Amino acid sequence: MGADIEPEWVALNRAHWDEKVPVHLDSDFYDLAPLKRGEGRLYPIEEAELPRVAPDGWAGLRVLHLQCHFGADSLVLAQRGAEVVGIDFSMPAIRAARELADELGLAERTRFVCADLYDARHRLPDPEGFDVVYTTWGTIGWLPDTAEWARIIAWFLKPGGRLYFADGHPTAFVFDDAGATDADDGRPFPVPTYGYFREEGLSLDEDGDYADPEATLANSRTVEWMHPLGRTITDLIAAGLDIDFLHEHDAVPWQIFAACERDGSGMWRMPGEPMIPLGMSLGATRRAD
Ligand SMILES: C[S@@+](CC[C@H](N)C(=O)[O-])C[C@H]1O[C@@H](n2cnc3c(N)ncnc32)[C@H](O)[C@@H]1O
Repeated sequence: MGADIEPEWVALNRAHWDEKVPVHLDSDFYDLAPLKRGEGRLYPIEEAELPRVAPDGWAGLRVLHLQCHFGADSLVLAQRGAEVVGIDFSMPAIRAARELADELGLAERTRFVCADLYDARHRLPDPEGFDVVYTTWGTIGWLPDTAEWARIIAWFLKPGGRLYFADGHPTAFVFDDAGATDADDGRPFPVPTYGYFREEGLSLDEDGDYADPEATLANSRTVEWMHPLGRTITDLIAAGLDIDFLHEHDAVPWQIFAACERDGSGMWRMPGEPMIPLGMSLGATRRAD
């Protein structure tokens, strides 16, 4: 995708993410201290599920991390012995990932490539095939086409290779609490706002940031997409993957709604009995055909 023919949504979203990188690097949300001590951890959902994805551990596994941001999770997996290629379309994110890899002594085991996801096959041609494709928390909502996303994943995986995917649940993305009526305790409460089956991108203008409540972004306009869960899964199956598990969660790693409360493990959930799923995760295996 050349810069001269880049669609507006790519330019808007990239400017937004470029601006977020320094904000995130300075935030408490992305606490890099454990990683820098050699003890990087993922969220409890991933830690609980990843043994099914890499039952013999990460040593020597070739991992492709899609939408890797500044590489924090890529470097956790590298610390556990994986050889990781991270892809993201934000150059500031990729530069920060490379610097962090150098600082942690993981540059030999990591490679960070600046590319739009839909260009990944052209930017990493003739892959040997990856053992694992890893992509989590804030991924397909930035992408218009999950059928193509699924084909890209299948193309990069070896037969028998595994996908691990975790993200917000599309049901939760129907809801918004901006301008919503106050609940009893005074906090805005999420109300249905966006159609679950909506095909067109949503043009949003939000200058806040999930990692730093104080931040005000100049590049606030974005285009994001709804992806019904059934279609995403069907896209993966059609691309050549078998689904190993699909889990729905009452928590996500960021404050998806103002009313959410954080637990000791860093996950955010609605108070009281969970009414809707907030997160989902799945494991899938590339078929041999
Ligand atoms: C929420 S972050 C990824 C989450 C990651 N788990 C984290 O918290 O560090 C989303 C990432 O997707 C990247 N991104 C968005 N659209 C993309 C695209 N079309 N191609 C490649 N990367 C993209 C952004 O630059 C950003 O780094």
